[in-house]
Amino acid sequence: MEPYPLRSGWTNPDSFPSQELADAASRILPGLSEEMAQYPGELGYEPLRRLMAERFEKREGMALPVDEIALTTGSMQGVTLMAQTLIKKPGDVIVMEEFSYAGTIDAYQIERAELVGIPLDEDGMRMDALEDALRNLAAKGKKPKFIYTLVTYQNPTGSIMPIERRRELLQIADRYEVPVVEDHCYADTIYEDCHVPALYTLPHEVPVIHIESLSKILGPGLRVGYFTAPQPLLDDFLNFRRDAGPSLLNAAVLYEYLRENLWDHVDRNNAMVKLKRDAMLHELSKSPDVFEWFSKPKGGLFVWVKMPDSTDLEACEQLAGSRGIDYATGKAFHVYGEDVPYLRLAFGYPTVDEIKEGVSKLADCVRETQRTPSHTLT
Ligand SMILES: Cc1ncc(COP(=O)(O)O)c(C=O)c1O
Repeated sequence: MEPYPLRSGWTNPDSFPSQELADAASRILPGLSEEMAQYPGELGYEPLRRLMAERFEKREGMALPVDEIALTTGSMQGVTLMAQTLIKKPGDVIVMEEFSYAGTIDAYQIERAELVGIPLDEDGMRMDALEDALRNLAAKGKKPKFIYTLVTYQNPTGSIMPIERRRELLQIADRYEVPVVEDHCYADTIYEDCHVPALYTLPHEVPVIHIESLSKILGPGLRVGYFTAPQPLLDDFLNFRRDAGPSLLNAAVLYEYLRENLWDHVDRNNAMVKLKRDAMLHELSKSPDVFEWFSKPKGGLFVWVKMPDSTDLEACEQLAGSRGIDYATGKAFHVYGEDVPYLRLAFGYPTVDEIKEGVSKLADCVRETQRTPSHTLT
């Protein structure tokens, strides 16, 4: 582990409820021998699905049918099942934000989809650009298999799409008859009052598939997420399931802990991570010469940072690596792999001290790797 782990969307180890989960396991497992002797079924442990439906309803104000929820091995399994099901042949098109989660880009490229990136602004995917892209694709006789979007705490930019734009996105999707996959895995990582209703809850005619996770409020080591999709799509996705269903052990222990502690845990976790976010924003603001712009995320786990155009990006990454600073380069999130003078810093896992020192040392690395002397400060 590098001394300054600022790369990945890991969570805060200090708020992981290890003892509480151990207690929950000892309460619930003795009564589950019969169930453990069987496969869990393609939707997974019903009590946890019910709890996830309640979680959704409490946050989004709308019921989620429990029999339309499938538990998954993290949200990543949902992301890949959509692609495996809907991409029928190499070159089938998926439309997504121009900057998106690197894991999704990889997963869709492995399925040999053609990715079409839509430019973003501070409010997320731009609707004029989306409409242009769909029109151009239609002119070439191409209909995308789906639009994959991160409208809430966008990864990597941190943007939150306002409600009017969400409605517009769904109207455009309806007009072009393209299903929408809403990856909402950061839904409960929230540090300021900024809730905007999920796409799933807004009026739409095309199928909207909604993906969530427990990775970002508890820990990615759990590998528990879920998705919901209308029929017959849900069955189509589940036909691609090759794991005989999600782990009953994980689901049962989590259910037993979360049934009484979900929202307390979320509040406690977010309060701790907010301190880390604030420390990162404060440290970044001390170096306006090299951190020319950065997002101020209200949720999620990342800050998206613009460096001067004159930065030698490769040299900077190498220098930072040699000093123990691990960050994610902007290029990793670009659908076409373009080298852009951005980096993504994660604040969930490192300590406040690691954040402060790491960001300050990173600023030095950026200063020392300028191609033009004007940025080479003493
Ligand atoms: C947008 C997005 N989707 C999906 C994932 C996968 O998360 P998990 O499979 O742990 O739920 C991540 C992880 O960082 C992510 O950022």
